[in-house]
Amino acid sequence: MKISVIGAGYVGLTTALVLAELGNHVCCLDKNELRITDLSNGEIPIYEPGLKELLVHNYSRLTFTADSKKAIEISDVLMIAVGTPSLPDGSTDLRYIKSVIDDLSNFISSYKTIITKSTVPPGTNNLIVNSLLERGVNRSHFRVVSNPEFLREGTAVYDMMHPDKTVIGLEDDDRESLEVMKELYKGMNAPFIVTSLNGAEMIKYANNAFLATKISFINELSRICDALNVNIETVAEGIGSDPRIGPKFLQAGIGYGGSCFPKDLKALQYVASTYGIETRILDSVQHVNNTQIEFYVDKLRSTLDDLKNKKITVLGVTFKPDTDDTRDSPAVKLINAIACHGCDVHIYDPKASTSDLNHINITLHSTIDTSYIDSDCVIIATDWDEFLSLDWKLVKDKMRGSILLDGRNCLDIKKISELGFTYIGLGRV
Ligand code: NAD
Ligand code: UGA
Repeated sequence: MKISVIGAGYVGLTTALVLAELGNHVCCLDKNELRITDLSNGEIPIYEPGLKELLVHNYSRLTFTADSKKAIEISDVLMIAVGTPSLPDGSTDLRYIKSVIDDLSNFISSYKTIITKSTVPPGTNNLIVNSLLERGVNRSHFRVVSNPEFLREGTAVYDMMHPDKTVIGLEDDDRESLEVMKELYKGMNAPFIVTSLNGAEMIKYANNAFLATKISFINELSRICDALNVNIETVAEGIGSDPRIGPKFLQAGIGYGGSCFPKDLKALQYVASTYGIETRILDSVQHVNNTQIEFYVDKLRSTLDDLKNKKITVLGVTFKPDTDDTRDSPAVKLINAIACHGCDVHIYDPKASTSDLNHINITLHSTIDTSYIDSDCVIIATDWDEFLSLDWKLVKDKMRGSILLDGRNCLDIKKISELGFTYIGLGRV
């Protein structure tokens, strides 16, 4: 198939490279010319494991362009994967989707299946249909399909190649696009869930909202376990063994972040509010998450007394391991929060870019070894493998103090305590 993917970020680029790997000819369109230059030169502009290998392997089936007209004209299948960030009131900023609509209405001159992979609020795919019709695009020249994406950063390639489902939302009278979607994904073995455009959009938000709910649930329980001296991991294991609950997404820590959970929960809450519907569960999930950093800072203050002038090392800036993404990262919130208390913060991350860190008392280290020298306290904010396998005895020897705050409950508490650390976790005994 000839496919154009619009937007070459985490989702668009992964989609393009995986579809090329499945044997398709794929044109990758992005308005960011620097990104297109990098890709044309064989460089991956983001950090996502596996993408580089796919790019090299499929280079002959890929084209990269910043020219919307070209990308829209050469393919019958157009996949939209542009960003859909939050506006300050929680609603979704659809400016990138609208700019795609502008391009589609200007350049569609033959039949296209337009597939939305971006996460968009219920009603948006219908808005795309109506906008194209209002701008004079012939009804016989397009169909719009909602096909939300469920990949995780850090494992994007694996997730896209092994989806647990393929959600397809169709226009009510669309009899053609399901066959196109079957052809598109014929190399994959996932069940199709076929529904309306609004239904597919809703499944995506519900999926993310439920996962975030599990995280806030375990984080709230951890606070209770902390007070009761009960081990949260045993509790998670206990409830996770019930197949109706399941063991995943029950890892307690500094909370969820990233470019999706925070914005998608706000967007769903906003949509509900426009219908006058209360969202007590979504409100609480966000409240627990938004107060989790404060909870950790209080824990730290009760051990270190005054944070002022203390040297604190934070390991991890990204919102999770195996990505360079710091969007809405709880690690960034934690770093900024402790920096506000007047301590001298030293940070290290294997991949992050650190533009979100704006305090003068924050020092970025390019190697881990220099980051913890003479520190009063080391904090793990992201559970990168590099931190799990660190020589913690050496770290302890080079530190001034002995406090280790494990914001991801990821270290072996017994081993770490034996090295002489004062260990602070959440709900861990
Ligand atoms: P991103 O910010 O990494 O990439 C978006 C890209 O689109 C950018 O490179 C930008 O330059 C480009 N772009 C913007 N307007 C354009 C236009 N008119 N034409 C061409 N290119 C344009 O975004 P992302 O993280 O890949 O997310 C994209 C969408 O997928 C969002 O709706 C997000 O919620 C959803 N999603 C993301 C993930 C994830 O893990 N990141 C997972 C599932 C779904
Ligand atoms: C999440 C979903 O898992 C994907 O299915 C979805 O496609 C994507 O959002 C999206 O819509 O963008 P992602 O944000 O890449 O993927 O990462 P997750 O692995 O879900 O982690 C999200 C956050 O929750 C991270 O900050 C992570 O550290 C935190 N988390 C996760 C926990 O605190 N505890 C857990 O048990 C699991």
